[in-house]
Amino acid sequence: MSSVTFLDAQRWYPGADAPAVPGLDLVVGDGEVVALLGPAGSGKSTVLRMLAGLEEVSRGRVLVGDRDVTSVPARERGVAVVFQNYALHPHLSVAENVGYALELVGVAEDERRARVEEAAALLGLTDLLDQRPEALSDGQRQRVALGRAVVRRPQVLCLDEPLSNLDLAMRARALSDLPGLLARVGVTTLVTTREPVEAAVLGHRVVELRDGRVQQRQR
Ligand SMILES: Nc1ncnc2c1ncn2[C@@H]1O[C@H](COP(=O)(O)OP(=O)(O)O)[C@@H](O)[C@H]1O
Ligand SMILES: [Mg+2]
Repeated sequence: MSSVTFLDAQRWYPGADAPAVPGLDLVVGDGEVVALLGPAGSGKSTVLRMLAGLEEVSRGRVLVGDRDVTSVPARERGVAVVFQNYALHPHLSVAENVGYALELVGVAEDERRARVEEAAALLGLTDLLDQRPEALSDGQRQRVALGRAVVRRPQVLCLDEPLSNLDLAMRARALSDLPGLLARVGVTTLVTTREPVEAAVLGHRVVELRDGRVQQRQR
């Protein structure tokens, strides 16, 4: 586990007349779950992408624990992102989807299987391991996407609008399940949402963003 620190971290997209994130100062504690709350375009995804190394930081620094990761390649940061659309491989089983990232980095098959089973148990996916994504509900797909992130044992987890793709019933269910799942995963987490109620339920702390600036903090 690790804390996350943004030090005057700015993202100015090339060609834009203003920075999407002018200069973010934010500390997320070790094991803390922070909900980034803001309307569309407020910079939530940009903040996650700067942390994950998917977007260059134009100025300032990003730290994971004590380590300055500002110039560290994405795959070496220990930051896993669950994207809005889950991006599962349709032709792979749940087990293969979850284990794929480990295969890519050369984890041996036995250990891969053990870690996939461990992640599956954590997320209630054990009975679904042989299924393909098309056979799953959206909520189950989301847990697979989460499994794929945690199987890498990241130091930091980023969830970008995890509930926005779910229908109302599934959303209510995911909202009641996610805090427990995140507690079991136990890793420092940043989760984004446009909904104040979701932010309050998901986060130990809510950080409100508007035009890439922190608006208020509440416990
Ligand atoms: N790749 C990009 N190139 C240029 N501008 C971008 C890019 N991605 C996002 N933006 C702009 O940056 C701002 C923040 O976007 P984003 O971080 O996606 O917000 P959110 O996730 O809160 O909806 C918006 O004004 C958006 O149009
Ligand atoms: Mg976004």
